[in-house]
Amino acid sequence: MRIGILSDIHVDINLEAGSPVMDGLKSAITAKGLDKMIIAGDMASDYELTLACLHELEDATGVACLFVPGNHDIWNECHPDITAWDAYDQLKSFTGNLANGPRRLDGDWVAIGDIGWYDYSFGSPEFSTEEFDRMKIDGRLWQDKVKAVWGCPTIEMHRYFFEKLEKQLQAHRNRKIILVLHVLPLQYFTVPEPNRMWSYLNAFLGSTQYGELALEYDVRYVLCGHVHYRKQTRIHNTEFICNCLNYSDQWIKDDPAEEIADVLKIIDIN
Ligand SMILES: [Fe+2]
Repeated sequence: MRIGILSDIHVDINLEAGSPVMDGLKSAITAKGLDKMIIAGDMASDYELTLACLHELEDATGVACLFVPGNHDIWNECHPDITAWDAYDQLKSFTGNLANGPRRLDGDWVAIGDIGWYDYSFGSPEFSTEEFDRMKIDGRLWQDKVKAVWGCPTIEMHRYFFEKLEKQLQAHRNRKIILVLHVLPLQYFTVPEPNRMWSYLNAFLGSTQYGELALEYDVRYVLCGHVHYRKQTRIHNTEFICNCLNYSDQWIKDDPAEEIADVLKIIDIN
């Protein structure tokens, strides 16, 4: 089974920048002969557009998509009156959304996933929890503060997703697991620049606990996004892959179709 992997497609932001990505994405999915596509969040900053794009991809390619929401997908930017929970629940109408529960794949394989959240463990210890709670440094506001309205403390959101995923991993521990998150499971994927701003903002990228969880349950692949990197590393039996399409001003190629064809990663679980 050939599975395509991509995250942080940001259809709306790339379109506004003059770089439509949907046609290139459909072409790449078809050309690479995929059996399944996994999208690790941040399809768009509007849950309605995210849903429309997921359905459009499946309809045009005939390839089933699995998906976890990203923080942008649950933002209220286009729907100021809704909470993050409202958008999160709406996104469950897409049956391939792993927030609905694990999905069996070929043989012993299973895909488990959810957005995940952050617990500040990737932030520098020079900052306090209260400083991280403000989500603002040197005039820069981390947009989740105002656009991802969960209505409960940040670290509780991480605990919620962590415990939900842990239960699912326990229930499938004798299977070969692909764990899909939007946030980061490893420090390795955080922004390495030794500057004050990112030593603070890394706090909002994920949690060390997801990586520890993956290793505890001998997960075969952990897929993530969020940080706009394309990096991969292996620890024991676990392959950790962060494979983001990103914003067009971060691309190597000018043409969306060429960039997507180069970036789309494939794992073969046969
Ligand atoms: Fe993100």
